[in-house]
Amino acid sequence: MTSPLLAIRDLTIDYAGHVQAVRKANLEIRLGEAVGLVGESGSGKSTLASAIPGLLPASARIQGDIAFKDKSVAGNQSALRGDEIAMVFQDPMTSFNPVLTIGEQLVDFQSRIAGSAKEKYRRAIAMLGRVGIPDAAMRAESYPHELSGGMRQRAAIAAALLVNPSLLIADEPTTALDVTMEAQIIHLFRELRRDYGGGILIVTHHLGVVAELCDRVYVMYRGDVVEEGPVDDIFHKPRHPYTRALLACDPARIPERTDYLPVISDAERATFTRASWR
Ligand SMILES: Nc1ncnc2c1ncn2[C@@H]1O[C@H](COP(=O)(O)OP(=O)(O)O)[C@@H](O)[C@H]1O
Ligand SMILES: [Mg+2]
Repeated sequence: MTSPLLAIRDLTIDYAGHVQAVRKANLEIRLGEAVGLVGESGSGKSTLASAIPGLLPASARIQGDIAFKDKSVAGNQSALRGDEIAMVFQDPMTSFNPVLTIGEQLVDFQSRIAGSAKEKYRRAIAMLGRVGIPDAAMRAESYPHELSGGMRQRAAIAAALLVNPSLLIADEPTTALDVTMEAQIIHLFRELRRDYGGGILIVTHHLGVVAELCDRVYVMYRGDVVEEGPVDDIFHKPRHPYTRALLACDPARIPERTDYLPVISDAERATFTRASWR
């Protein structure tokens, strides 16, 4: 078996004055693999994902190891950013500068790539077309606020792909979008998977997104990675009680109209101790 593209070993992250946001996490991603990271809000998903390209705030303390292409990069992850690793966020507005056009920014994103500004602009337009933005040449002249949320997220994905990263990380890429837009972005990721050979990490609290897109999934609960496996196994044979509860609460899996949405009760939470599944 080839060695993984990314290997996270015993990663612990805490914020000054806070409890540990991530505890001894292990996670691997191989080339060509789409991996999901799921868990409810506050479980540590963004903290873990942001540590990979070195995007944690200065108050975060990090222990453990991150290896990229077999080389330890712990403490030096930012060197991989914008080149080997690209990240897409929940709010695509944060990816863009409001006073520059989309096209100008897509040229800037290619600063480490060879080519004239003209070539880069052409590449930007081609990429906007590829992520499904109609009239890409015209759209490149738009400012971020002139695009709809869904179009902005497509443009952010185009920006990420322009650097041809080995690893694409998307943190809740569909959460800010309505259901129709979400379906379109999921569809886009599925298409991209076909000809993008890198690894993909999709962070989401929405299990449906994982089911649609991922090969494998890691489940986080209160800072711990509590379960890991092929998506089919996790959906059909969840081992950890928290995963079972998460599945039971996913609106996409509730078969009939009900008057209430199931939630995880505090009593149920009390059973999610490590002893209960290890
Ligand atoms: N910048 C920060 N400073 C202090 N605590 C933070 C910061 N960011 C996140 N946290 C805390 O770390 C924990 C994990 O948060 P986060 O990684 O954002 O979870 P998720 O992405 O799963 O919602 C939470 O308890 C959150 O309040
Ligand atoms: Mg998050």
